[in-house]
Amino acid sequence: MKSNQDFFVIKAKENGVNVIGLTRGTDTRFHHSEKLDKGEVMIAQFTEHTSAVKIRGNATIQTSHGMIDTED
Ligand code: TRP
Repeated sequence: MKSNQDFFVIKAKENGVNVIGLTRGTDTRFHHSEKLDKGEVMIAQFTEHTSAVKIRGNATIQTSHGMIDTED
């Protein structure tokens, strides 16, 4: 599998946080939606299929660039 080796971590701070994967390439569209409940953690990478991720809801995101929180 071709992927960037860096992982990013998303930790939900409330129920129903959505992690949405967006496609790589000329066509940028949603291709995956994951729902996380409070305290759940998702560890993911950017891949040949996924170039961007949108996070909806209250969560902490950790990347190699640092840590960021979504706002309510
Ligand atoms: N099948 C997807 C892929 O390989 C899975 C995936 C990887 C994903 N990273 C993601 C889905 C980030 C949502 C968010 O690209």
